[in-house]
Amino acid sequence: MSAPPELPELVTRALRMSLQHGYVMASRNETGRLLATLAATRSGTMAECGTGCGVGAAWLRVGAPKGTRVLTAELDPELAHGVMEMFAGDDIDVMHADWSTLAEHAPFSLIFIDAESARHSPREEIIDMLETGGMIVLDDFSPSTNWPPMESGRVDQLRQAWLTDERFTSVDVMVAPDTSVLIAVKR
Ligand SMILES: C[S@@+](CC[C@H](N)C(=O)[O-])C[C@H]1O[C@@H](n2cnc3c(N)ncnc32)[C@H](O)[C@@H]1O
Repeated sequence: MSAPPELPELVTRALRMSLQHGYVMASRNETGRLLATLAATRSGTMAECGTGCGVGAAWLRVGAPKGTRVLTAELDPELAHGVMEMFAGDDIDVMHADWSTLAEHAPFSLIFIDAESARHSPREEIIDMLETGGMIVLDDFSPSTNWPPMESGRVDQLRQAWLTDERFTSVDVMVAPDTSVLIAVKR
């Protein structure tokens, strides 16, 4: 194990909610620890596209300095309102909304989104929400040692687009044997 097994209380609460809802899409701990570390370098407002049961938002809040804002949007009403209730008083703003409405609160110093959601979203819309020097963290890729990167036997065009976009400095980090996370910083 590469990190202490204890989890922050905020994260434990969100994981408990995932368990209660049988929600299997929550971010894994390796990704969460990376996310918290990146959030610790940020100021301003950070945004998450797709709250789920609040695991990613919890890790963001754990890492983010005081005075920063953590905002997260979830389309599913039951999940959104459940997380709102769970995080009442925890300095995390939960919206029951399509993530595209986050644009009203942009620019962001960090955006966290899973690869599947990003595949169904216009990339330029995401880029427009990032401030200069801001970073996007894309979760849930399959590790690939090839170039171009592959996903299910095909070229992973989303990952290729982020890794070759000259407006960004980017890296694909394998956080676990079955998961990699892409980090791209807007120049
Ligand atoms: C992979 S899960 C997110 C996991 C979460 N970020 C975490 O760290 O545990 C994707 C979530 O996005 C939500 N979602 C899908 N489309 C959305 C949209 N257009 N706007 C907001 N949320 C959306 C889904 O309901 C689902 O809960």
